[in-house]
Amino acid sequence: MTVIGLCSMKGSPGVTSTALALAAVWPRPVVLLEADLAGGDLAYRCRAAPGGPIPAAKGLLRLAAAVRGGVPDGHPILEEAELLGCGASLVPGVSSSAQARGLSGLWSSIAAACTAAEVDVIADLGRLDRASAHLPLAQASTYLLPVLSTSLESVMHLTDGLQDLMGALAQHGAESVMPVLVGPDARAARDRADLDELLGKAGLPTLATRSMPHDPRALARLEQGERASGRLGRTLLLRAAKAMAGEMVPVEEGVSA
Ligand SMILES: Nc1ncnc2c1ncn2[C@@H]1O[C@H](COP(=O)(O)OP(=O)(O)O)[C@@H](O)[C@H]1O
Ligand SMILES: [Mg+2]
Repeated sequence: MTVIGLCSMKGSPGVTSTALALAAVWPRPVVLLEADLAGGDLAYRCRAAPGGPIPAAKGLLRLAAAVRGGVPDGHPILEEAELLGCGASLVPGVSSSAQARGLSGLWSSIAAACTAAEVDVIADLGRLDRASAHLPLAQASTYLLPVLSTSLESVMHLTDGLQDLMGALAQHGAESVMPVLVGPDARAARDRADLDELLGKAGLPTLATRSMPHDPRALARLEQGERASGRLGRTLLLRAAKAMAGEMVPVEEGVSA
């Protein structure tokens, strides 16, 4: 099914939060896979559907062990997912970068399992460059969403980082890259236009940049386990996430799935 990879070039622009918001409103069955080599954090930030903390047993490490010899029969990704209060299913990431190093030879297998999954997969790749161990998962992504903030350095790291990354993602082309700009809603249209112009001048014909509004209240409610299908769905954060999801999964398809 469709694999969506979210990444950053540098810093902490909001990759995990954007991935969570997208997973919470995704119009088809989906699993959010925490594949950040620096370790996952949603198990600490979110509540499980029954209300308490996320149990520690399931996650990326067990998924990697299950798929190391090839994608097994059954539903290896779904088996490692925990249902969050907000409605998203989460495969929790590793707990440290040392643990992530143990996965270094397994990313092709993990990517194959994502591609073969019977649900869509939203993968939080954290920081990504052409030398990253988890590059196979970026290569397997139907859409790659580099997330950035509106600061000048974030914008410059995106253009430099993408130039470099595109060589390693050759089979993709920039037309499957959808930049996501996290920032104040009031300036979003201008910020998007500026970035698109810059990317065009840099010879990076990506899809049009999308905005993810800075909306700490909605994000906190999502993490605390409020369902995205209710009133929370009308907040700036989740309306933006729905619009973004609609760019990748046509709405009619989502409704009938
Ligand atoms: N859209 C947003 N609205 C409000 N706060 C956000 C948003 N995105 C990220 N943040 C905040 O910024 C910080 C970093 O976000 P996070 O998603 O963990 O970034 P990354 O995964 O890139 O490191 C967190 O404190 C988070 O609450
Ligand atoms: Mg993160």
